[in-house]
Amino acid sequence: MSELGAVRWSPDGRAVDLLDQTLLPEHETRIEITTVDAMVEAIRALRVRGAPAIGIAAAMAYALEAARLAGTGADVTSLREGLEPAYDRLVSARPTAVNLRWALDRLRARAAADCADARAVARALKAEASAILEEDRAMCERIGRFGLDLLPAGGAGVLTHCNAGSLATGGMGTALAPLYLAHAEGRVLRVYADETRPLLQGSRLTAWELGRSGIDVTLVVDSVAGVLMQEGRIDLVIVGADRIAANGDVANKVGTYSLSVLARHHDVPFYVAAPVSTIDVDTPDGAAIPIEQREASEVRAGFGRATAPAGVTVYAPAFDVTPAEHVTAIITDRGVLRPPYGPAIAALVRDARKGTA
Ligand code: MRU
Repeated sequence: MSELGAVRWSPDGRAVDLLDQTLLPEHETRIEITTVDAMVEAIRALRVRGAPAIGIAAAMAYALEAARLAGTGADVTSLREGLEPAYDRLVSARPTAVNLRWALDRLRARAAADCADARAVARALKAEASAILEEDRAMCERIGRFGLDLLPAGGAGVLTHCNAGSLATGGMGTALAPLYLAHAEGRVLRVYADETRPLLQGSRLTAWELGRSGIDVTLVVDSVAGVLMQEGRIDLVIVGADRIAANGDVANKVGTYSLSVLARHHDVPFYVAAPVSTIDVDTPDGAAIPIEQREASEVRAGFGRATAPAGVTVYAPAFDVTPAEHVTAIITDRGVLRPPYGPAIAALVRDARKGTA
């Protein structure tokens, strides 16, 4: 019900089939991506977006490139060498979401480990990309189950920002997963979706996917969040993440930090939902997270209509950093983390690497 197949293989397995999110909610158009260049363009243009989804999509494009190279008769060594430019182009398509690097590193390690002929390596990479997609689906489900326990049993007013739903993942989403499960259980939710300037992921995507699932969703412009909390309509805030640093600082869509400050002021729980693949223990804190800057045109003339003087200076970070101390809990696919996040994250990642948690 809540899975939209934002990214999947085409029926013949020779292309990545994306739901073009730049066209939603007006058009539900699927596009087929067959080259690394086309995938880089799709990621940069946000045809596919959301941290887990771009990791999956990049992994699939890398696997397709391996198949192409194997088809040219390349041997294993030249296949591996030929994949390096694909890695570099894909990994730098967007800098903030660490899932992109995580997924590509996984495929690169797979390519290095397999000693068979080039076609066998290409097949292994396709299987690995498919595994990442399938695992993401299961991770969303587990995040949903853990998050469900944090939702009031009788129902709740929930505020979310950007889109951390099915459109952003291989499954039912991260921040939206507990909401889908709560709704399926008959719990009464009123979800407020921030519009999410400048690219409107909240109105174009979150309001669309929640609405089509029958969840009560109310769209608000971003600046209404404070009013909602003043009026006592919000029981909790739940958002996704693009990268969680080792100390628990969270990078997510710009505007998330402001929400966390409001939530703290109004004593509203502020939850972050993300798979372990979004945690980057190599990044010590939020100050070390690279923040993508977007084009001024997206602010000055979003969706084609001039909304600002043509030459006005624009500052357009795509993400901001919410300090760990503003986060009530981090809901992962391996359990709910509570402060202090440093040791909790270190233990979780250690267990995840051992496969024991
Ligand atoms: O620029 P976007 O649309 O890719 O930003 C997406 C977000 O900020 C999401 O909240 C985040 O990637 C988590 S998606 C499960």
